[in-house]
Amino acid sequence: MIRSTLAFSLLALPLTAFGLHQENSFRRRHSGVAHSPAFMRRSTNYTLQQKYIGEDFLNWDFFDEADPTDGLVQYLNATAAIDAGLATVDCNNVTTLAVDSTESVVSGGLRKSVRISSPETYNSGLFIADFEHMPFGCGVWPAYWSVSTTAEWPTGGEIDIIEGVNLNPENQITLHSGPGCTLNNSQPTTSNQGGIECTSSADADSGCFFTQTTPTSFGAGFNNASGGVFAHLWNTDGITVWFFSRPQIPNDIASGNPDPSTWGTPAAIFPDTGCNITSHFYDHTIVFDTTICGGWATSAYPSTCPGTSCSDIVSNATNFENAYWKINSLSVYQ
Ligand SMILES: *[C@@H]1O[C@H](CO)[C@@H](O)[C@H](O)[C@H]1NC(C)=O
Ligand SMILES: *[C@@H]1O[C@H](CO)[C@@H](O)[C@H](O)[C@H]1NC(C)=O
Ligand SMILES: *[C@@H]1O[C@H](CO)[C@@H](O)[C@H](O)[C@H]1NC(C)=O
Ligand SMILES: *[C@@H]1O[C@H](CO)[C@@H](O)[C@H](O)[C@H]1NC(C)=O
Ligand SMILES: *[C@@H]1O[C@H](CO)[C@@H](O)[C@H](O)[C@H]1NC(C)=O
Ligand SMILES: *[C@@H]1O[C@H](CO)[C@@H](O)[C@H](O)[C@H]1NC(C)=O
Ligand SMILES: *[C@@H]1O[C@H](CO)[C@@H](O)[C@H](O)[C@H]1NC(C)=O
Repeated sequence: MIRSTLAFSLLALPLTAFGLHQENSFRRRHSGVAHSPAFMRRSTNYTLQQKYIGEDFLNWDFFDEADPTDGLVQYLNATAAIDAGLATVDCNNVTTLAVDSTESVVSGGLRKSVRISSPETYNSGLFIADFEHMPFGCGVWPAYWSVSTTAEWPTGGEIDIIEGVNLNPENQITLHSGPGCTLNNSQPTTSNQGGIECTSSADADSGCFFTQTTPTSFGAGFNNASGGVFAHLWNTDGITVWFFSRPQIPNDIASGNPDPSTWGTPAAIFPDTGCNITSHFYDHTIVFDTTICGGWATSAYPSTCPGTSCSDIVSNATNFENAYWKINSLSVYQ
């Protein structure tokens, strides 16, 4: 596990009420129609570089330090997480990464959870993540993301593919970067575009983002459909993200011959026009985590959840019965 860089330990996300207000003020539907990006017009053969499934995830790096986002979690090391039954693999090779939902924890205390990151790092690729279930619930803040291991955050960038808090019904897709990177998209997407400033700092970490509009993209709605696939293509042309609820997963993904040129309108497009993707995003490890409260879930808490304080909910074990990932697989193609 890389512990030395601030980059690795900071999950800098669209924290705080500020971020949420910004989202609303920037909210608009994109209707620009222009030429499709090159990758959507031509068919390319992708070769499988790495497929993570089952036990593979138990060999990832387990982060076991204090949560950098100030969440009310105690992240367990691999041995402790496996012993506690919070990191398991079933007979179908499905990996579960869970928040504890049995132990008693005082209000404002720390509940056990898991945060893992891939031993391999990436500078590009077509990433296809298939989930049966994602964590949700009051106070719950799950994320599937990647971040640079060689540069101090936000230099080297952060790509957030799945993220949301509490009982939010929709997923948010976000980039964070060093200076000189803005979102300049004119292509249609299935999402609402949020802030366009990808450049982030500790004081201004909303990032540039898209909020999905379908309730099957996050939380209870995602799980009710038996999950689905988030796919993202990261290359010199940009970063493009597609979401498929389980009934809509294309055959070419299921058969292991993915062809993004056939996938239709993406959920998010971050083109290279306003941002040199190569120079702002590099050496990324892939991360799965679930935190509780922390900046974002705390500020957003009263709008959807009971009581006034997020920190009280941590004591209610039952509340965390749905706070788990069920990962079918993660494939990386080049
Ligand atoms: C992709 O692979 C198929 C089968 O191997 C081949 O027929 C096709 O020409 C390839 N397409 C490209 C664009 O390389
Ligand atoms: C489960 O995944 C492992 C790789 O982690 C693979 O070797 C094994 O064949 C898979 N088993 C099943 C039943 O798919
Ligand atoms: C893992 O965590 C447990 C519980 O905190 C601790 O006792 C153990 O020493 C840790 N193991 C390693 C290898 O760090
Ligand atoms: C759950 O999914 C079924 C289809 O599988 C759908 O008919 C139903 O409306 C969904 N319920 C909710 C609450 O999303
Ligand atoms: C935004 O992208 C368009 C092409 O889609 C380009 O003409 C324009 O110069 C870009 N603007 C910025 C600020 O990069
Ligand atoms: C983008 O950054 C890379 C790496 O620093 C550089 O090689 C490339 O020339 C840059 N592209 C443009 C269009 O400036
Ligand atoms: C605990 O959480 C569950 C699920 O969110 C909720 O139904 C229940 O009312 C909560 N219990 C208390 C004592 O707040």
